[in-house]
This record gives sequence, structure tokens and C-alpha cells, in this order.
Amino acid sequence: MSNKLVCCFSASGVTEKKARALAKAVGAGYYSINPVPPYTPEDLKWTNPLARCNREWLKKSAPPLSDLDAPVKDADEILLCFPIWYYTAPLIVKRFMESYDFSGKTVLLFATSGGSDMKRVIKTLAPAAPGASLKLGCMLNGEDAPDRWRALAEQG
Ligand SMILES: Cc1cc2nc3c(=O)[nH]c(=O)nc-3n(C[C@H](O)[C@H](O)[C@H](O)COP(=O)(O)O)c2cc1C
Repeated sequence: MSNKLVCCFSASGVTEKKARALAKAVGAGYYSINPVPPYTPEDLKWTNPLARCNREWLKKSAPPLSDLDAPVKDADEILLCFPIWYYTAPLIVKRFMESYDFSGKTVLLFATSGGSDMKRVIKTLAPAAPGASLKLGCMLNGEDAPDRWRALAEQG
């Protein structure tokens, strides 16, 4: 059996709740990806053109990571969870991937959203993880699906 690690970025808690349930379902460790400084509710108001989220997106500038302590090297399979931002993975998730060596590992992608799908996430993240095998997991919106999650993780 492979050693699995859930790595999760969650700005307002929705993805974190799902990712913790996913970690429990597949028997994986859990690591939280945190920006410095953390996002405030004000920072996330994407309807405001001057909000931090929009300024970062326009500049393609991800915030720094709080630490580089994710035990990626001990894992064969990473289950990477994040909210969909601007129809794809947030910039900080790309920065997280660029900050570790994922070569030879499977990275299975999971997301929450307000309705968008995951179609664009592999294109966004693949350049950040050369040598890794990036695969679509599933959206985590809606009901928890531990059996489906376990099946996806076992294939990975
Ligand atoms: C900056 C920003 C951009 C977003 N862009 C999208 C989007 O393109 N499509 C979508 O369906 N939801 C979008 N959302 C909604 C989030 O994906 C959704 O609320 C998610 O579940 C939040 O997860 P979290 O609580 O873990 O941060 C966006 C939210 C924010 C803050």
C-alpha cells in the first residue's frame, strides 16, 4: 500500500472540511498549505476589483508559504485539495508544487467550487511539478463520498 498525504489549501474552510474527511477515508496524513499573511474575508471579496485576491491574480503573484514542512518526500501519493479560483487552481497551490520535488510521485487533484469544474487544473499545475504524474481526482462539492475517494486513491 502506498503512503498517502493530503495537502490542502483552503481560504475559508470549505475545502479543509472536505480534505480532512478525505484524509480520514483513505488513511492519509494531513498538511495545511498556508499563505503569509492568511487571507481575511475582505481579501477574498472577488467582486471588489481592489481585493487582495484580484490584485494577486492580475499580477500572477502568489503569496509566500508559511513553511516548507509538508512531508512530501515520505509520500508516494499526494492528494492535493484546493478551491477553484478563477476557473483553475489558486496561485498559491502552484507555488506549493514548485517548492517541493514531486518527481516520481502521483498527485491526485481534488477541489471545491461554487460550480466550476476541474478541467483547467492539470494544465495550470503540470509545469510546476516536472516528473510527477498529475491525475484528476474529483470535485468534493456535495455529499462526502468515502467509497469513491478510496477507489480513486487506490488507482492513483
Ligand atoms: C478569489 C476567488 C475566486 C473564485 N473563483 C471561482 C471560480 O472561478 N469558479 C467557482 O465555481 N468558484 C469560485 N470561487 C468560489 C470557491 O471556489 C468556493 O467558494 C470554495 O468552495 C471555497 O473554498 P475554501 O472555503 O476552502 O476557500 C472563488 C472564490 C474566490 C475567493
